[in-house]
Amino acid sequence: MSFSFQIRSYEEYKRAYAKSVAQPEEFWSEVAAQFSWRKKWDKVLEWDFRKPDVKWFINGKLNITENCLDRHLQARGDVPAIIWEPNGKDEPHRVITYDELHFKVNQFAQVLRNNGVCKGDRVCIYMGMIPELPIAMLACARMGAIHSVVFGGFSAQSISDRLQDAQAEFIITCDGAYRGAKAIPLKNVIDDALVSCPFVKTVIVYERTKTPVSMIKGRDKWWHDEISKVETQGNPAMPAEEMDAEDPLFILYTSGSTGKPKGVVHSSAGYMVYATYSFVNVFQYTPGDIHFCTADIGWITGHTYIVYGVLCAGGTSLMYEGLPTWPDAGRLWDIVDKHKAHILYTAPTAIRSLMGYGLAPLERKKLDSLKVLGTVGEPINEEAWHWYDEHIGKKRLPIVDTWWQTENGGILISNLAGVTPAKPSYATLPLPGIQPVIVDEQGKEITGNNVSGNLCIRFPWPSIIRTTYGDHERCRLNYFATYDNMYFTGDGCYRDENGYYRITGRVDDVLNVSGHRIGTAEVENAINMHTGVLESAVVGYPHGLKGQGIYAYVIMDKMPEDMVLMQADILQTVTRVIGPIARPDKIQFVTGLPKTRSGKIMRRILRKIAEGEIDNLGDTSTLLDPAVVDEIKTRKI
Ligand code: WT7
Repeated sequence: MSFSFQIRSYEEYKRAYAKSVAQPEEFWSEVAAQFSWRKKWDKVLEWDFRKPDVKWFINGKLNITENCLDRHLQARGDVPAIIWEPNGKDEPHRVITYDELHFKVNQFAQVLRNNGVCKGDRVCIYMGMIPELPIAMLACARMGAIHSVVFGGFSAQSISDRLQDAQAEFIITCDGAYRGAKAIPLKNVIDDALVSCPFVKTVIVYERTKTPVSMIKGRDKWWHDEISKVETQGNPAMPAEEMDAEDPLFILYTSGSTGKPKGVVHSSAGYMVYATYSFVNVFQYTPGDIHFCTADIGWITGHTYIVYGVLCAGGTSLMYEGLPTWPDAGRLWDIVDKHKAHILYTAPTAIRSLMGYGLAPLERKKLDSLKVLGTVGEPINEEAWHWYDEHIGKKRLPIVDTWWQTENGGILISNLAGVTPAKPSYATLPLPGIQPVIVDEQGKEITGNNVSGNLCIRFPWPSIIRTTYGDHERCRLNYFATYDNMYFTGDGCYRDENGYYRITGRVDDVLNVSGHRIGTAEVENAINMHTGVLESAVVGYPHGLKGQGIYAYVIMDKMPEDMVLMQADILQTVTRVIGPIARPDKIQFVTGLPKTRSGKIMRRILRKIAEGEIDNLGDTSTLLDPAVVDEIKTRKI
């Protein structure tokens, strides 16, 4: 599809931006009018950041899947909606057209209905990167159930926390998932999670790896059996549920500065409008483009730029199963060439890891179908940017550096491919509708250019977070209470002489490890569960591949005799409690932590030591016991 909201020149961008600030309601109403609605909205926007209360397209009625699917059937029914490249080279790839996807989503929505899922119910999805994952999500959206996708790398304990928080009674999973040379069990992990979640009524299991699984009578059902029941029923039509614009579409859990992940809630209409608007404009999508996003659908990037944004635009989403480095480090380039992808959207950590393999994996790769390159997830260092530009883009492709967050629903700050200027390591300019503000610690706005501070947004955009599931106050405290009447991002940033934004990283206790967000408090909680641990403090440090590494200082009841074994044991506990992504890179046993007289851990000092800046620790005179710092320094690893 083409949309008249597509910006095609720098001049047009400036005009769109100016209008979005001067007349935001008119601006977004013109954008929203290009979607398919059951009933148009009465009012564009009502908002109050202090509560927070944000509503877009009030009383509008729609179903996002009618925009992702039904709308395209007449003109584009035989166009591929999803191209899927499997982990193993011997297995054929799959192409699913819009007609077929529509059919499959309807069928699976019918399965959900047969199993008692109703509008508003929460459905947890824990699957690998196979087409049945977007099919399951869209089937939920079709019948108005709220999906909560949990990344396949999270542990049973993490799943159980999320199931309880969302009170999800339904689960969709796989027997296992392929990741490189390994088949990772998924259903077994669900079984462990369910020991503490007796309220779960139904688990639907898709067979992918033929890993042996336990299937509990009455609770666990095979996907294929449920589908054949629907076929026996003659595939009854499954009309999409009419949703209010503000009905929740999904929950996605993400880490914050406290120990417990938050369930970020996104709306139906606002999310749809902004996901599509940002997709079309940032990547300059044109009909026929094949969009290859390498993210996992378990993260917001996959939700918006593998599933909803791409499908609402009628595009072709190329997704893959496996790893960028398996069977070799040419994997992404092979997929690009095989399917002639036009857009490649990946993460700096993937680029850095592939850089490490040198140029051999690029030999005989054409990469000549590509038109646009993108990155997301963390600040991209200049070296990685130039490698991407030179070796993948051959210095002829625009690179978009897209800054955004789970809470934002879509890209907020980025250049528009080939339309607005790029600058290495800068996300550059805000999209229309996004009003960034830089504030100092006191919340005073810092105006002008060549300035840095904390990044806030002063006006709502359609896909802003609506609440944190089950705890609205938490949403207010986290995002809307630090600075009055502004959304606080938790990121620090710099604005250069041209007004371009450079995101410099988190200013709160949140780490960004390989583009994954991990709260230091979460890791500390996990470490503290290990027997013998009295206290721990976790900080980030610069890591060549991951962006940030995790450094843990741990106090035990007595110094372990076998430090290496104890480190391994603690890693095991972290893996059990959170998952392998949260495993510390370094664990140092200490006898004390630097604390103020009021008992607060001085993380600044611990960060400096982890970074290796042991001679430049600043003022330590306010510490309760300055001697602990010397001890920590001498035993640094
Ligand atoms: C945090 C959000 C949104 C998709 C992936 C991560 C960091 C994200 C960039 C970028 C610098 C970036 C920020 C942000 N971040 N993109 N282009 N440049 N930093 O989503 O897990 O919600 O993490 O990732 O620190 O706050 P997330």
